[in-house]
Amino acid sequence: MVSYEPCRGSDEGSGAPPAEPGFRMKMPRGGRLFLATCLGSLFVLVLYFQTITKPEAGLKTGSQPGKSRRSPLQTLYNGDQQPELLAAQSSLRGRRELLEEACLSHTKKRRVLSPDDLKHLIVDDKHSLIYCYVPKVACTNWKRVLMVLTGDGRYTDPLSIPANEAHVAGNLRALSELSVPEINRRLRGYLKFVFVREPFERLVSAYRNKFTRSYNTAFHKRYGTKIVRRHRADPEPEALEKGDDVSFQEFVQYLVDPRTQREEPFNEHWERVHSLCHPCLIHYDVVGKYETLEPDARAVLSVAGVEGSLRFPASGKSTRTDGNMAARFFKHISPFYQKKLFNLYRMDFLLFNYSTPEYLRTR
Ligand SMILES: *[C@@H]1O[C@H](CO)[C@@H](O)[C@H](O)[C@H]1NC(C)=O
Repeated sequence: MVSYEPCRGSDEGSGAPPAEPGFRMKMPRGGRLFLATCLGSLFVLVLYFQTITKPEAGLKTGSQPGKSRRSPLQTLYNGDQQPELLAAQSSLRGRRELLEEACLSHTKKRRVLSPDDLKHLIVDDKHSLIYCYVPKVACTNWKRVLMVLTGDGRYTDPLSIPANEAHVAGNLRALSELSVPEINRRLRGYLKFVFVREPFERLVSAYRNKFTRSYNTAFHKRYGTKIVRRHRADPEPEALEKGDDVSFQEFVQYLVDPRTQREEPFNEHWERVHSLCHPCLIHYDVVGKYETLEPDARAVLSVAGVEGSLRFPASGKSTRTDGNMAARFFKHISPFYQKKLFNLYRMDFLLFNYSTPEYLRTR
């Protein structure tokens, strides 16, 4: 369990199915859930669309009775605070607008939002926050921070929380666990944020973490053995059994193989943000970036009104964003596969304004 590691909520099928118009869902837990989800998605769709066109509609419902503190949404939208924050906010607003435009021009019809789509959205009722967690984008630290925020004073220092503790299901609440009216109220009134990262840097980070570390035996067994079986000519029996020496090239072949996603959704560590967090269906107020993690995290905490009491943990590791990791790994990938892989992750590049990497040889 622990070896399964960072930023998993539930591992099975936690990557949502590829966004598709219409009503199509995996039903893992039988009829009751199916019914609930059917009803749910209708309401989520109908009510939530009001938010997209009228963000201020959420402000009224968002402030709870007897609570005089401004909600983060009010703080964010009534731009009347400190100048540093305003500067940060104008760049965040730029990103939000770019995301909206990209959604308009690159996605087809809007599809129904179902509670099943909300499994990665973590709720903090105390501070009116919703965070969509994306593995390999500082999500352990964000989960720690949310545990401090929601924890009734049980924790004060995020870094005192062990990483595996931050990933225990049940320590944090997912939006998908709530009833439909409860979901809608929060989607309308809460500050919704997500953190993203250059898609191939994130992918290489996932590969290195899951396939080149000897302790990740669960991933080797579950994914490694299958990758070796399918994508290696003449594999050794030991490799077939352990699946612990998958090359990046084999991993890429696995990702672009049409069978892979036909059989099950991608694991959340390599699933696209577009499919995990539905940024064209859920109107995020803040899109933070791993590349500017510190100022963006500060902006979120400041809007949430907790900046004085809580700091986002600084990354101690030097592995953070040297920006060249992916280039080194892609050297050994043929232009044919580079192109296929880029198409697979294209939406994440477009929606979050990441330019096509210069090292790609796709022409
Ligand atoms: C998008 O990326 C370009 C190039 O990196 C940058 O100049 C621009 O400011 C970005 N736009 C937004 C809205 O962040």
